[in-house]
Amino acid sequence: MSDPTARAAAALAAGELIILPTETVYGLGADAANAQAVAKVFEAKGRPRFNPLIAHVADAAQADRIAVLDAAARRLAARFWPGPLTIVAPAREGVGVCDLARAGLDSVAVRVPGHATARAVIAAFGGAVVAPSANRSGRPSPTTFADAVEETGHAVAEALDGGPCAVGLESTVVSVLDGRIALLRPGAVTRVELEAVVGRLSEVGDGRRSPGRVALHYAPDAPVRIETTQTAPGEILLGFGPGVGDPRWSLSPSGDLREAAANLFRLLREADRERPSAIVVAPVPKDGLGEAVFDRLRRAAGHVG
Ligand code: TXA
Ligand code: MG
Repeated sequence: MSDPTARAAAALAAGELIILPTETVYGLGADAANAQAVAKVFEAKGRPRFNPLIAHVADAAQADRIAVLDAAARRLAARFWPGPLTIVAPAREGVGVCDLARAGLDSVAVRVPGHATARAVIAAFGGAVVAPSANRSGRPSPTTFADAVEETGHAVAEALDGGPCAVGLESTVVSVLDGRIALLRPGAVTRVELEAVVGRLSEVGDGRRSPGRVALHYAPDAPVRIETTQTAPGEILLGFGPGVGDPRWSLSPSGDLREAAANLFRLLREADRERPSAIVVAPVPKDGLGEAVFDRLRRAAGHVG
């Protein structure tokens, strides 16, 4: 088999793991229905088993076979799929996604990725594919093929190079449960864009909090300080906007949030390789896409919860 898509689909069917490019970050993919394959994902990442995985599907019809999508969920799907939105909805019993992938919950997270390679692999495989970010647990998500291979390449049978991830941050996660719609993880689909489709979002009650958001963060090895441009010798400043720091280390020299999101994890990882005494990140706006960028920065700096 010389076609990488077919090889990746065959690896999934054989219960092996793959590195799967998506538009957000690189994923570590496995057959969502195969508990042994899903167990390998948790093991390769060192991920706690209470933290459920996202089931990636080729289209909304396939999502509908594993999750109960109400009218609001359907509107979100129609507007944002394929794309960087994950919908958490009641799971349909016993179909497609094993218990371990759902961490035993009665809900399931589903997403139709925007990256053509991801959708081609899922379509060739025919079932749902769980794919957490391809980093080891607690590390920044990989947004380039090289970073993904460095993190979890040892654990996979097939690795697909889809180029640098256009979005660079993990998908927006929204729960649509019991008629309440809540933002569990900010991402490239912004709060304002969601509210334009479904109206005002509910507050996240503690019981509904995304299990993976409580204790984990995405930190490099170096300590991270945010919201300042003050640096000491031996520290690296990630700038934002014209004239802030060395352009080589800028999230976006022009002050563009999309560019900053696409560069953030890659620059954190590159800065970390220089073994600085700290990584310092200049202030970024906090509205629109800035909510997601700031969320990841707070986590990298250890300000979780
Ligand atoms: O962009 C993305 O979403 C990437 C790419 C590869 O698709 N994947 C990703 O997966 O970020 P992961 O496993 O790193 O993040 C999944 C998030 C976690 O915060 C997890 O707790 C949450 O989704 N989640 C999954 N199922 C859930 C559920 N049933 N209820 C609440 N949160 C859930
Ligand atoms: Mg992750």
